[in-house]
Amino acid sequence: MQLKNDLLLRAAKGLTTERTPIWLMRQAGRILPEYRKVRATIKDFKALVKSPEHATEVTIQPVDILGVDAAIIFSDILVIPEAMGLNYEMEESKGPVFPRKIESPADLKLVHISQAEELQYVLDAITLTKRELNNRVPLIGFAGAPWTIFSYMIEGRGSKTFSAAKKVLYSQPEFAHQLLSMITQSTIHYLKGQIKAGVDIIQIFDSWAGVLSPEQYEEFSLRYINQICDAIDEVPKIVFAKGAFFARQQMNAINCDVVGLDWNMGVAESRQLVPNKVLQGNLDPCALYGSLDDVKREAVKMLQAFGPNKHIANLGHGLYPDTEVDKVKCYIDAVKNYRHG
Ligand code: CP3
Repeated sequence: MQLKNDLLLRAAKGLTTERTPIWLMRQAGRILPEYRKVRATIKDFKALVKSPEHATEVTIQPVDILGVDAAIIFSDILVIPEAMGLNYEMEESKGPVFPRKIESPADLKLVHISQAEELQYVLDAITLTKRELNNRVPLIGFAGAPWTIFSYMIEGRGSKTFSAAKKVLYSQPEFAHQLLSMITQSTIHYLKGQIKAGVDIIQIFDSWAGVLSPEQYEEFSLRYINQICDAIDEVPKIVFAKGAFFARQQMNAINCDVVGLDWNMGVAESRQLVPNKVLQGNLDPCALYGSLDDVKREAVKMLQAFGPNKHIANLGHGLYPDTEVDKVKCYIDAVKNYRHG
């Protein structure tokens, strides 16, 4: 079936497009009153993620309301540790918390390599979303990078330093590799399941890439991202490693199509370091706190820095929940209305 708007897929493959496509990390969520309304009718965040009908509804909201060029399936990266055997809770003001975490090699008995079917509710949400989208725009599937998932499984929650997770890398590297391998295998099964269910492109989120040294990043993160990318050739692949400015040259050699940039990574320098990839990003989400004129100016500045080809517009990280919808729309419209002269 032909997509009516396939700008994202063509841009991801490096093809020339009439204009730069745009979608936003965290485009579905608390910035939208329509999301908050659905969320209020349901017990909690996890119940929303586990209900294919509701997940479909909030996945499609930003396509209707914001006019983005892609939908991203509404879920969370933490469904993988849960499928492997480690439940998480989403605490309203604190974020995710794991009642049990992995503290020693003995705790590995708590987890197993999960199969795609153990996340059937996500696969069902994808099937339903594809049907409801009716080929208007592509659907993005996603997973966390093994290092980022590992961090949550060891820390049991978010952290500023991730020192408990890093301690394992320094003191018990074999144990780290064992768990990272299990996460990698589970993630490959999961992403292949998402592709079978209908996603058109995938993104790997390495949210905590920035806490590692370049050497550690290579050994404990990139190696596993590479394994995932090598296992998947059915759809285009985006890798977003937040804070990994030091690894851009290596990212150029990964078997992926698109590399996501955060706002700390200069565009011209990134083009030099990552010449083989399409680049995605990278407006600072805080730029959307400016006036409408400021937002337009920042959007144009960003588009001119990237140039007409091999760019997918996005933010340098997810939208902050207190961003005004008008500003978000303004950014999206500025990108959609811009033509490179
Ligand atoms: O619109 C989309 O981007 C799709 C949905 C999506 C969510 N989480 C929904 C969500 C995606 C792609 C994610 C990925 C995710 N989850 C990441 C990687 C991206 C990144 O931000 O670096 C990470 C690290 C997580 C873990 C996570 N989930 C945290 C730390 C939190 C709490 C922080 C917060 O924003 O509240 C979540 C909760 C979460 N995931 C919410 C949403 C919409 C907010 C929950 C709510 O509705 O109350």
